[in-house]
Amino acid sequence: MRTPIIAGNWKMFKTVKEAVAFIEDVKGKAEVAGVESVICAPYTNLPALTEAVQGTSLKIGAQNVHFEDSGAFTGEISGLMLKEIGVDYVIIGHSERRAYFAETDEIVNKKVLAAFKHGLLPIVCVGESLEEREAGKTKDVCRVQTEAALQGLTEAQAAQVVVAYEPIWAIGTGKTSTAEDAGEVIGYIRERIAAQFNSDVAGKVRIQYGGSVKPNNIREFMQHPDIDGALVGGASLEPASYISLVEGAR
Ligand code: G3P
Repeated sequence: MRTPIIAGNWKMFKTVKEAVAFIEDVKGKAEVAGVESVICAPYTNLPALTEAVQGTSLKIGAQNVHFEDSGAFTGEISGLMLKEIGVDYVIIGHSERRAYFAETDEIVNKKVLAAFKHGLLPIVCVGESLEEREAGKTKDVCRVQTEAALQGLTEAQAAQVVVAYEPIWAIGTGKTSTAEDAGEVIGYIRERIAAQFNSDVAGKVRIQYGGSVKPNNIREFMQHPDIDGALVGGASLEPASYISLVEGAR
């Protein structure tokens, strides 16, 4: 059985003060037995957040990582640095990073390998644009992105990956995929992981849906047997809403 995982992707929101106040508000409430609850915050918040979640089951993630351990890469943060401050997860290959920061499948793969090197668990984002969807390329896009991201992992590593299927047209738009459509794509991604590794690995990989997930639709997605949780942007920013999302994944 796969443990469902709700991950909040705060993107470029919240100061340190706001981030710590959020944890105080959700402590004990966004902690539900049988659901993993992860907050992926801006870098500046991470030391305070890893401290704030001590003694809780909440986990903290970053939203990006550089693939080198150190070097002349102005403005970048390495896996070594994230691990040192107690970060557990890292989002890799979010569509905003692919679109605005030119992240290619090759870079995504290097980052996934770097995450494992430092004991961080990657949440790998894949998903098609509206144009690709309308051209009937959804599954192809997801297959290519997933296969490239997991290239070179051992079976044991691959089994620990979290994939987030986020159709780009559903991000921040209020438009969601139906649970049925998302489940079909996710089922296909799982099949491809079985082909790339084996069915045991594919059965263990958790695959989330992301894109306008809210407290009022989370249960619908969670009812699909292939959907193992959600990667949530906007609706993860308010404590009450985040708590409802975690409860909805139970
Ligand atoms: O990574 C989460 C994301 O891109 C979805 O954002 O605001 O549509 O939940 P949102």
